[in-house]
Amino acid sequence: MEKRQELYAGKAKSVFATDDPDHLILTFRDDTSAFDGERMESLARKGRVNNRFNAFIMEKLTEAGIPTHFVQRLSDTESVVKKLDMIPVECVVRNLAAGGLVKRLGVEEGKELNPPTFELFLKNDALHDPMINESLAETFGWATPAQLAEMKSLTFRVNDVLKRLFADGGLLLVDYKLEFGLFKGEIVLGDEFSPDGCRLWDAKTREKLDKDRFRQGLGGVIEAYEEVGRRIGVGFD
Ligand code: C5P
Repeated sequence: MEKRQELYAGKAKSVFATDDPDHLILTFRDDTSAFDGERMESLARKGRVNNRFNAFIMEKLTEAGIPTHFVQRLSDTESVVKKLDMIPVECVVRNLAAGGLVKRLGVEEGKELNPPTFELFLKNDALHDPMINESLAETFGWATPAQLAEMKSLTFRVNDVLKRLFADGGLLLVDYKLEFGLFKGEIVLGDEFSPDGCRLWDAKTREKLDKDRFRQGLGGVIEAYEEVGRRIGVGFD
């Protein structure tokens, strides 16, 4: 497969066309952003760590029967994915209260959420990814009710698989964000799954081992990602 022109550069990944119209190459860069790109930093090894982390998780999800865009890891920082028609809606599941939920509703950080919550956000940096709901998504044509129902069901299936996987590594999956797209009419998981887009705490000490280390200036960001990876069996060599 031949890598062609860059189609899009996001805050942490870039997307390249290939000689195959159905496939793209994702490159994971060391760039790290927070607060809608207000804070940007390059963190050594991040692209490599997230590429391997994502490949490992996507393979686990595929094994569990969840359709994903992931095809294969190509190099240290590149992966081949199916070309999706992306749905501009972010799906967030929370098992424990943190981040935006704590800020919005004033609940205590770490409170167990039973049942886990499901939220939708519009993917729009200029508007700071506002929270939306099914009605708005339908009215504005971001996704149909059937697509939203499928996205919700898949997002919770991911929770079943990953909560267990992380628990086996002594970790709590606090919350995470997923993005979906359409491939030949089917709803497929896109984007990435890495500690950039989820919260992971040590189950005993509740130490934060995810991007909150960057957001909150705690340091040891990539070391934490590597620690999480090692605990669940991601090979970084
Ligand atoms: O900020 P908030 O608490 O709503 O984020 C919920 C989860 O979704 C967190 O794990 C966060 O890292 C992730 N997220 C993300 N990208 C966004 C918004 C949230 O990865 N644009």
